[in-house]
Amino acid sequence: MAQSVITDDAVFYGQSPPVYPSPEGTGAGDWADSYAKADAFVSQLSLEEKVGLTGGTSADSSCSGIIPPIERLNFTGLCLSDAGNGLRTTDFVSSWASGISVGASWNRDLAYKRAVGMAGEFRTKGVNVALGPVVGPLGRIVSSGRNWEGFSNDPYLCGALAADTVTGIQSVGVATSVKHFITNEQETNRNPEDNITAVSSNLDDKTMHELYLWPFQDAVKAGTANIMCSYNRINNSYGCSNSYTLNGLLKTELGFQGFVVSDWGAQHAGVATALAGLDMVMPSGSDFWAKNLTQAVNNGSVPESRIDDMAQRIVASWYKMGQDTGFPTTGGGMPEYLAAPHQTVIGKAASSKEILLQGAVEGHVLLKNDNNALPLKSPKLISLFGYSAKAFDGYTPEASGWNGGSESLAPSDAIAVGDETVHSQIAANGTLISGGGSGANQPAYVSSPFEALSLRAYDDDTSLWWDFHSGNPAVDQSSDACIVVGNAFASEGWDRVGLHDDFTDALITNVASQCNNTIVVFHNAGVRLVDQFIDNPNVTALVFAHLPGQDSGRALISILYGDVSPSGKLPYSVPHNESDYGPLQNATLPDGIYELFPQSDFTEGVYIDYRAFDAKNITPRYEFGFGLSYTTFEYSGLQVSLAGGADTSAYPSKPIVEGGHEDLWDIVAQVSATITNTGPVVGAEVAQVYVGIPNGLVKQLRGFAKPVIEPGQAAAVDFDLTRRDLSTWDVVAQNWLLQEGEYTIYVGSSSRDLPLTAVLLLTV
Ligand code: NOJ
Repeated sequence: MAQSVITDDAVFYGQSPPVYPSPEGTGAGDWADSYAKADAFVSQLSLEEKVGLTGGTSADSSCSGIIPPIERLNFTGLCLSDAGNGLRTTDFVSSWASGISVGASWNRDLAYKRAVGMAGEFRTKGVNVALGPVVGPLGRIVSSGRNWEGFSNDPYLCGALAADTVTGIQSVGVATSVKHFITNEQETNRNPEDNITAVSSNLDDKTMHELYLWPFQDAVKAGTANIMCSYNRINNSYGCSNSYTLNGLLKTELGFQGFVVSDWGAQHAGVATALAGLDMVMPSGSDFWAKNLTQAVNNGSVPESRIDDMAQRIVASWYKMGQDTGFPTTGGGMPEYLAAPHQTVIGKAASSKEILLQGAVEGHVLLKNDNNALPLKSPKLISLFGYSAKAFDGYTPEASGWNGGSESLAPSDAIAVGDETVHSQIAANGTLISGGGSGANQPAYVSSPFEALSLRAYDDDTSLWWDFHSGNPAVDQSSDACIVVGNAFASEGWDRVGLHDDFTDALITNVASQCNNTIVVFHNAGVRLVDQFIDNPNVTALVFAHLPGQDSGRALISILYGDVSPSGKLPYSVPHNESDYGPLQNATLPDGIYELFPQSDFTEGVYIDYRAFDAKNITPRYEFGFGLSYTTFEYSGLQVSLAGGADTSAYPSKPIVEGGHEDLWDIVAQVSATITNTGPVVGAEVAQVYVGIPNGLVKQLRGFAKPVIEPGQAAAVDFDLTRRDLSTWDVVAQNWLLQEGEYTIYVGSSSRDLPLTAVLLLTV
């Protein structure tokens, strides 16, 4: 008998196991001093004052969220603001390369320095909590609208770069809000709407630990003061009232000492969220907490000790960031921007010009370079095409560029480009430097490819032709090179409607039919398929520029002209076809008996991106970790050894500190190799280590390094493999298991170019 449509969410109750009571912060590790201060502070507060710390309030400021001050005790309140790629809704700040570009740089040092530079701007503006970085979505669904905000769909790469971002931002005294906890893998139905609940991410314990929790674990280990719980449901319990994920995974297993804030409007219950481990609600406490929370304590529904714990976690974070002394006025540089521009600006943020540019440059990945098309060599004539080459037509406080742009590019919109009408897979109204939504940011200026190329043309006496509108432009056949700059847009709030668009593909083939040196560049907010044009012999080069931020054009030109050799590598795979993703191409929709309760079943387990392509023997067009350079590298001299004195017992047993059992981070094995620059120019190479764990995946990334090597020189690269790197999650023991057996260690330049292999034998 066919099942009828499910109309009552009671059917699902019980799938996410209950974990109560909510663990109280203990002040473990380097939190001890801050907890002691917070304890003394909170003990002086009335119940109402403590509750006041837990809920957002409105104020005359463009902060995304505000916690009011408690003036009698010199607590100055909190301003929380978006986001992980730069501060938005204010002026005198910078547009940094987005998460996906940092992922493509594979550069930990750069991730750290970018974070420091960005955080200086948050601090100057009086922002206490930067609402980023993003590690969820991880990128399970390839078309998910927010994948670009994060670093990579590989948990190891994502986690490493997130950890450096957390350390960098917090070193400046600004707290990070690592988000969105957890399995926030699609925008479609992320929130309840029209009687349909938010989508439920249904997954098993092993997948949770080995994929989705992994980067959050790195961020907690790095000391993030804040975690943002997500809109979606996890095994049918909302992200901000899920006692298993908040009380269990985060506060027990990972020993998290900071506070949990709700995503904006992600709270759907009062008492239940308090007991499940939520510590602060945004943007307003008044729907479920505020007076109701006081009442819940007074009538015994919520123990006062839970409110004390919330207050202590919040105030301890404020002390830990050193925000009690010398911090700029809370929200002081965050005016109601449109109403009163400049009114409350404190001063120009200290910007790190060099890092802004380096971030833009290293996010570029060179994927094809036939006939040495690149670098360009004193061209006499260049023809430039494509809507992503030119700057926005106007950029004023009223029409704030990429944020506003995202609104006008809703997926149902059709956009006129010249006399063609195209779907909004692309941002057609100006060069794309960031994706849309709350992760978009505010550029101080925009260096577009056209402007940067024009400056270079001046230096080199090059002539330019250009057409940014036509899908079938006239091409001067004597052009030394024809450059086509397109994009692939994505935004918070909706998922991408495709991974390639016919307008841009036709533009490329139209240009290539008249120009035998066609160089294609994409500003791509995610995977962009290229099979419709890439085998065309007149398409000689392909660059994925990703989302470079305000120095976009300058960075591109430095790559195209070889001022710097490209060193980015793909932080995801590029397959031939959409169908290669199977069900992971598109978001799950409400359907059948789940019309009102959309159920996204993560039945693929840990097999996403290259893990899935490896397992299913699908050859991608460009594999995970791939990227070309203007020089060449050779790998040699692999050495793999057990670390001296390594404890190889099956499970970690030391106490839990922030991030989990302390001995999860013990170094169990060491890997080293030599890389030689065998080509003509200096270049940086991303060397990658993959491990095949017994009874597990063929291989997964477990290390990377990026030395800069002069021509003819060699560099040694060393990698430490920790207990966690070599373990799998044991669902019965509820712990990380180190198995006895042979571990294959691969070293090379991409996930499918691994010239060095060795076997590590572990006896447990
Ligand atoms: C909702 C988004 O999901 C989150 O990432 C953002 O920080 C908040 N809105 C605040 O703008």
